[in-house]
Order: sequence, then structure tokens, then C-alpha cells
Amino acid sequence: MFQTDLLRNKRILITGGGTGLGKATAQRFLELGAEVYICGRREEVLTATTQELSKRTGGKIHPRRCDVRDAAAVEEMIGAIWADGPLDVLMNNAAGNFLARTEELSLGAFQSVLGIVLMGTLHTTLACGRRWLQAGHHAVVLNVTTTYTETGSAYVVPSAISKAGVQALTRSLAVEWGNREIRMNAIAPGPIPTEGAFSRLLPRPELEQLAKQKNPLGRFGTVEEFANLAAFLVSDGSGYINGEVVTMDGGEWLQGAGEFTELGRQLTEKEWQMMKPKKPAPPK
Ligand code: COA
Repeated sequence: MFQTDLLRNKRILITGGGTGLGKATAQRFLELGAEVYICGRREEVLTATTQELSKRTGGKIHPRRCDVRDAAAVEEMIGAIWADGPLDVLMNNAAGNFLARTEELSLGAFQSVLGIVLMGTLHTTLACGRRWLQAGHHAVVLNVTTTYTETGSAYVVPSAISKAGVQALTRSLAVEWGNREIRMNAIAPGPIPTEGAFSRLLPRPELEQLAKQKNPLGRFGTVEEFANLAAFLVSDGSGYINGEVVTMDGGEWLQGAGEFTELGRQLTEKEWQMMKPKKPAPPK
């Protein structure tokens, strides 16, 4: 769907790029000519992904072990990347989430998710942003949020709080840094099957059916659809999109939000007929 040189000469860092959505996006960016850095906590996962994607695409990909919760480690990683040349794109994809009853969560559980999602995004964005601003370098940040940033969501409260913060950061800096050539956008994906997310958020396979019924399109999204949207948003072709959160969920949240949607879906054909206006009696 794109010219194969869409991202040529772009140097891109994807946090959490060793697995899931990050890995799929890394593959797409490589196919489109970018040089890609991936970071994550597990060295062996990063190495395996690097080997796999470099073989599959022939592109330039570099692994960097880094826990984005650690501001000093992030600063060190960004410094090392900059030693080879400035990044052009930062994609904050690293996340943590699990289903839990909020009253049972430890402080450590909150700190873990807030640390990865909110503070991690802040650490990388500041480390790159300060360098870009100082050099007057044109750049793009793409964050990954969720469809429940505005509404909140029961049972994923640490994630809801953190992603709402990331959304606020996206919109705030889109304005504050926009006049200095830095664009900030986000994708709010609905359910897309990946091992990391689904093992933590869909404990029973039968629940998949229920989740699909909640979606107007009756299916989950794919990593390829996600990666294509990400490629568009980081490309120069989307240069006038700034401060936007693009929802990509098949219309799922709208279906949940519409007051009469569920009611309408439950009505029988006979009931629909009953709801129609009665035909006026023929004139005598
Ligand atoms: N329910 C409740 N608490 C949980 C939990 C769960 N399912 N999983 C972890 N925790 C708590 C731990 O008990 C611990 O709390 P403590 O410090 O009070 O003991 C805290 O969270 C940190 O757990 P730890 O095992 O040390 O995890 P971590 O910080 O290395 O990993 C997580 C981070 C918890 C987010 C982990 O789920 C993860 O690595 N996720 C990455 C992938 C992912 O979530 N993908 C989906 C993205 S949508």
C-alpha cells in the first residue's frame, strides 16, 4: 500500500520492539527502507527479533537492551544511538498491562505499569526531544495509547491512568514543540491479537467470541493494519497531522458507547415490524 522507499533515510527507535505490535511495526518500517533500533528488557528476545527481521527484510536493525523505566538507562541508550547519528522518529510502544481488581493491587503493581507506560514514554521523549530542539532537527513522535483513555476502564486502572497521561503528553507537546518541527501523534488501537497482550487480557479463549461480538466488524485488528497506520503517521506524507490520536478499533468503542446499539441488536424481526408506524386507514 506504500512505495517501498516511503521511510528511506529515516532512523527510528521503537521501544518494546522485540515483540508484538512493536516487532510487527519494526518489520514494516524496515520493508519501507528505514533504519530501525529496537529496545526492550530482554537481550535474548531482542537478538532473536533482530536476526529474524534482518534476514526477512534485508534492512538495518539494531537491538539495545534498556528498561524504559530507568531514566539514566534511557539517557545512555539515546546518547549511544545519537553517536551514530540523530533519530528522526521515536515510537513509544513499550507497555505493560494486566486484568486485576484495583483494590487488590499493590503499590508495586501500579508503579510497574505507570513506570513503563507513562514514565517510560516521558523518559524517551525528553531524551530525544531535548536533542532535537537543540539541533533544530525535524522529527516525529508516535505514541501508542488505548481506546479507554477518555472513558477510563475497570480492571485495567494502572494502564488507564498511564495511557491517559500519554495522551495528554501527546497533545501538550504537539503544541509546545510543533512550531519547532516536532510532530506528536498517537494510535489508539482496539484488540489486536499478540501473545503479550492477549495472555494477560483474555484469560479464556471463549471470551474471544464475546470480544468479537462487541465489535461492529466482528473481528480483531491485525498487526499489519496497525503497522501500516504507524508507517503513514511517521512518514512525511502525514506532515500536517499533529496532536492527533487515531483510533483503530473497527468502531468498537463507538458500539459500546451508543445508548441504543445493544437494544437494537437484541430486537427480533417481529419486534422491528411492531416498531414501524401503523399504516393509516384507507379513506372511506
Ligand atoms: N496482577 C496483579 N499484580 C501484578 C500482576 C497481575 N497480573 N502482574 C504483576 N503484578 C505486580 C507484582 O506483584 C509486582 O508487585 P510488587 O512489587 O508489589 O510485588 C509488580 O506488579 C511488578 O511485577 P513484576 O513481576 O516484578 O513485573 P515487572 O515489573 O518485571 O513487569 C508487568 C511488568 C507486570 C507489566 C508485566 O506484566 C510485563 O512484563 N508486561 C509486559 C508485556 C505486557 O504487559 N504486554 C501487554 C501490553 S498491552
